Amino acid sequence: MKFRSFLIVANILVGFHSTAQTWSGDVAQIFYDKCTKCHHSGGAAPNSLMTFNEVNAMAGLVYQCINQNEMPPWPPDNNYQQYLHDRSLTSAEKTTILNWLNNGLPEGNASSTPPPPVYTNNTFLGNGDLTVQIPTYMSKALTHDDYVCFSIPTNLTQNRTIKAVEVVPGNREIVHHALVYVDPTSAENTDTIGGNCASPSNATTKLVTGYTPGATPMILPSIDPLKLGIDVGPGSSIYLTMHYPMGSYGAYDSTKVIIHFYPVGTTGVRQISAGPLIADNNFNLPANQVTNLTAQFPGGSTGLPASYSVLSVFPHMHLLGKNIKAYAFKPNMDTVKFVNVPKWNFMWQDFYFFQHMQKVPNGYFLKGEATYDNTTNNLNNPHNPPQNVSSGFNTTDEMFLVYFHYMPYQNGDENYDLNQYVNASVGEYYNNITGDISVSPNPFNHGCDITLPKKLSADDHVYIYSASGELIRKLPCINGVQSLHWDGFNEQGKELGNGVFFVSARIQGELLSKKIMKLD
Ligand code: HEC
Repeated sequence: MKFRSFLIVANILVGFHSTAQTWSGDVAQIFYDKCTKCHHSGGAAPNSLMTFNEVNAMAGLVYQCINQNEMPPWPPDNNYQQYLHDRSLTSAEKTTILNWLNNGLPEGNASSTPPPPVYTNNTFLGNGDLTVQIPTYMSKALTHDDYVCFSIPTNLTQNRTIKAVEVVPGNREIVHHALVYVDPTSAENTDTIGGNCASPSNATTKLVTGYTPGATPMILPSIDPLKLGIDVGPGSSIYLTMHYPMGSYGAYDSTKVIIHFYPVGTTGVRQISAGPLIADNNFNLPANQVTNLTAQFPGGSTGLPASYSVLSVFPHMHLLGKNIKAYAFKPNMDTVKFVNVPKWNFMWQDFYFFQHMQKVPNGYFLKGEATYDNTTNNLNNPHNPPQNVSSGFNTTDEMFLVYFHYMPYQNGDENYDLNQYVNASVGEYYNNITGDISVSPNPFNHGCDITLPKKLSADDHVYIYSASGELIRKLPCINGVQSLHWDGFNEQGKELGNGVFFVSARIQGELLSKKIMKLD
């Protein structure tokens, strides 16, 4: 019924436009912006949605997923707080796609379809300074999820400081999540036997970051005046906890973690910490009941002893979770908002990095509020009939944790535009994609000349994408011109920091791409 009335509304909306939306004119770019990061061949999603034909073939499911807000997956409420790497569709984008589907998916002029982002299916950031890889492991997740832990020595002989971490799943289809820790004394053990190793055994083992499908590598700001890092000392190991979902039995994985360090001797790097500051490790959820829990940090009646800058938030529950919220407060003072997930989805969890660091002044408390539905109304309830569930590591147990990346506050922290810093590069990048486009100079500092193999017509497109597939700039294509200049600025007129970018062009229907690198 809902579906029907929506169709009518959508058709009325379309009636107001003189020309219907087309794939080439209106829709392709939305897919590139919001879907193809996961939906490309070799990506985190099972099907590619890069081309008109691919979308056409699954139009019904695409309609359903978008109409019901299931895709793109983006659980946090953007009205509560804004994050980097936001995946959600704007309401205008959603209407455009649905109208287009309702109108029979007109393709438009195929040769003027905008050129897509370039995915390398390998790494965003290229070779780092240290790569650790788990031995090839076969998932044992037949009737239960498989949780296993690996301890891998870094073999470092001196202290190094992390500036970026990229988790590269060995098998994107079965790696549900991975958490990366630094174990300073190599005290942890590899544990692949019981299938329920979900966290380290020692308090000294420190969380660095996590991976979930579609996640962006953790790139810390690493340019003056904001250099952030995490130390890794000699004798340390990387500790990786892996989660393979039920049904993945027999599939192999060998996930690796690529770590980028600051050059030895870099000064002025501020250490950040990560951890579940908000936590309740001792609770019960009676069967057939909805239960609300709250947790606070610090416990007791005095708030934080100092002010902190918070970079990210990662709320965590299991299958009974219904909603979760985290914020900082002090009686009679403004609340600092971290995250609100109104409809919890176990499948989609992530560290959400804020667009601006959140200042939590001293005297404040961090607070989490979570609701669990242990009734038959909860379709994800692993028990039927419902059973009493308590806190624990198994997926069928429950958890109430909110992780943060944070550091001691310094004046002005809240004013940094982290988007800009995160676009910045982290050093080495792997092999160039070759093509008939020539770029000079490459790498470049403040501008480069892009020469195409053919003369352009006004119907062609030459776009600049970031390495993570974000559209940065559309270069004007003038009839008869064969060389274009990119000044290193984005569509909003702001110069980008250093990083890897792709020129992606569609010229007389032919796709071409070229990797370019901008330096400071
Ligand atoms: C962060 C990664 C990610 C993004 C972004 C994303 N998807 Fe998905 N999508 C997935 C994964 C993983 C699956 C398969 C697992 C599942 O069904 O939940 C999937 C499944 C689907 C399916 C198939 C559902 C089914 O029942 O088989 C459709 C259709 C789909 N996505 C459409 C889209 C569209 C359209 C967009 C953009 C508007 C989008 N997705 C954005 C990861 C993503």
